[in-house]
Amino acid sequence: MPRVTFLHPEGKSGEVPANLTLLEAAQELGFPLDHECGGNASCTTCRVEVQLGGENLSEIDFDEQDLLDREALTEPWHRLSCQARVMGDVIVHVPLKKWDARVPRDQRRAEALSSNDVPG
Ligand code: FES
Repeated sequence: MPRVTFLHPEGKSGEVPANLTLLEAAQELGFPLDHECGGNASCTTCRVEVQLGGENLSEIDFDEQDLLDREALTEPWHRLSCQARVMGDVIVHVPLKKWDARVPRDQRRAEALSSNDVPG
């Protein structure tokens, strides 16, 4: 079985069945990788940066490439974990920026909701 490693302070590594997506592999390993659109190639919150083993991932299909292009994620190591399927060992880096932004974004939402309650 392929070994998948998610590089992150809370990252996980382990063997998973072949042909899972990276997102499914993360779930299998108990790593809470963001996936706001539910794995439908429309949000990029699941994006990762491939460090090693990119040749062991499925090829980028039209939907994945289209979204990566629209978000200017054009480097070859950018992949959407909900689309890339694991065929062999791979190491991916999970950008901290996305994870760091998760809490402040929630706080911003709360602030926006409360500010709507205040007239003026
Ligand atoms: S979960 Fe939204 S693009 Fe992958």
